[in-house]
Amino acid sequence: MCGIVGAVAQRNIVSVLIEGLRRLEYRGYDSCGVAVLDARGPTRARSVERVADLEGQVRDGNLEGVTGIAHTRWATHGAPVTDNAHPIFSRDALALVHNGIIENYEGLREMLRGKGYEFISQTDTEVIAHLIHSLYRGDLFAAVRAAVAQLHGAYAIAVLHKDQPHTVVGARQGSPLVVGLGEGENFLASDALALAGSTERFIFLEEGDVCELSLDGVRIADRQGEAAQREVRQVAAYGGAVELGPYRHFMQKEIFEQPRAITDTIAQTDAFDASIFGEGAGQVFADIDSLLILACGTSYYSGLTAKYWLESLARIPTQVEIASEYRYRESVPNPKSLVVVISQSGETADTLAALKHAQGLGHKHTLAICNVGTSAMVRQTELSFLTHAGREIGVASTKAFTTQLVALFTLAATLAKLRGRLNDEQEADYLKQLRHLPAALNSVLALEPQIIAWSEEFSRKEHALFLGRGMHYPIALEGALKLKEISYIHAEAYPAGELKHGPLALVTEAMPVVTVAPNDALLEKLKSNIQEVRARGGQLYVFADADTKIVNGEGLHVIRMPEHYGLLSPILHVVPLQLLAYHTACARGTDVDKPRNLAKSVTVE
Ligand code: AGP
Repeated sequence: MCGIVGAVAQRNIVSVLIEGLRRLEYRGYDSCGVAVLDARGPTRARSVERVADLEGQVRDGNLEGVTGIAHTRWATHGAPVTDNAHPIFSRDALALVHNGIIENYEGLREMLRGKGYEFISQTDTEVIAHLIHSLYRGDLFAAVRAAVAQLHGAYAIAVLHKDQPHTVVGARQGSPLVVGLGEGENFLASDALALAGSTERFIFLEEGDVCELSLDGVRIADRQGEAAQREVRQVAAYGGAVELGPYRHFMQKEIFEQPRAITDTIAQTDAFDASIFGEGAGQVFADIDSLLILACGTSYYSGLTAKYWLESLARIPTQVEIASEYRYRESVPNPKSLVVVISQSGETADTLAALKHAQGLGHKHTLAICNVGTSAMVRQTELSFLTHAGREIGVASTKAFTTQLVALFTLAATLAKLRGRLNDEQEADYLKQLRHLPAALNSVLALEPQIIAWSEEFSRKEHALFLGRGMHYPIALEGALKLKEISYIHAEAYPAGELKHGPLALVTEAMPVVTVAPNDALLEKLKSNIQEVRARGGQLYVFADADTKIVNGEGLHVIRMPEHYGLLSPILHVVPLQLLAYHTACARGTDVDKPRNLAKSVTVE
């Protein structure tokens, strides 16, 4: 999604800005741009192609400057055309980049038109540029503070003005923004990752903060306009760019990294001890009587799977809700419920807003399960568990999902132990299963050639159904999401028992029905559901555990999984679905790592 980079220095800063954009590219964007200040004012280059094209323009145009801002845009208001690409100018005096959505832009645009401002773009961003320009009286910091007081919605912005050649002003509300501190130079970015190589010292701005970067320092005002001191954090973890290695796409690499990612995630777990979730977790876990899980997309499906573990192992009532729904509905808060937010990025706007909404309703206990230790979500929760999946570049989440499942299983087992429902022997057994999981995953990954053979068939389809039962129903949902995200095949998932309540009407020879078939208590029921599909000429593609006795037959294609893996089985069963989606997308020739219309980190509503 949109990305911001800004810098004030004594050297030409263009290469830092371009490199920053390149580091944010994987998040998805459809245009990009950069602006620097020179004696005449801001000058810019913009492209509706890749950052590499922008770099070429910058080189050909000799764009140079010591103060600059840059942006990758993921279109919300207005098509991805050059006029809508950022930086957006106001009267050739001011340049601005913006992440987020301004909800009251229409009213502001009318007001600004009344003052004589001409609107060139279709963006909501242009109102911010003209608004700040209209309020500018020789102090950009003051003008930005006055302007943001009039904005409704979410924003992170970076602004330059021709009359302040060594100043970049930033502000944030609902979208992340960090300051990077250098020696005689300072930086701004929507993600610290963008500034790797330039600094390791960061200030993570808080909601409502406005900052002013100059050559020798940074000043920050909080929402009330009071000078604010913010902690400077050393973040060394942002090494170089992630390499693709022998893989064709990052998604494929990330699928194959899952054994390693899970090994890293469980490295901290010698026992199911509350302290894994942070200081004071033991007390919090003793206080709570239920869980409320909030998340989006794939992270939501990990929450749905966890509900089965939490309720069966720990016997703790668990509600799982899509964050974008929860934040806007009237719910009945229970202060004794632990709010668990799950997010790969920790910056997803809907999940963050849902967390704040829950806190506003009086939920005092919160836990983030997250892959980014410096993210807003981790900073805004009482407890946290980091998944250690490593950076996930592919838009379609894979290793983040399986490591979230490991984290959530650990949570369920920890709560079960605290509630006297897990004895020493069971604890040792689950720990052993977790440690064996990477090896078990490797044997599932070895099924890739068989899955490639299926993917050829799938690549010619336009629709697919996914079936699962019990804790494998969310796995079917995740399989369908993966397929639609990257292959653009319409896919839906159902609990297999629901088939005859409607979706069976869709089953014909042309409809592949992917079935997740673990050897669990629901196997016989699932076999009946399989027969219902066969009887209607449907084509079944079944991932069946070794001991299920489901075998190839007419209309029945089977890939044999390892032996049933008990409660952890969903973690194994999702992997062939990831591979099926991946190879189907490859066969269709889509842009697997950057599927159309999608972004890696959804920082707008
Ligand atoms: C996953 O394949 C998707 N791209 C998407 O559903 C994602 O899981 C969702 O946007 C939530 O992201 P988060 O985990 O970073 O909060």
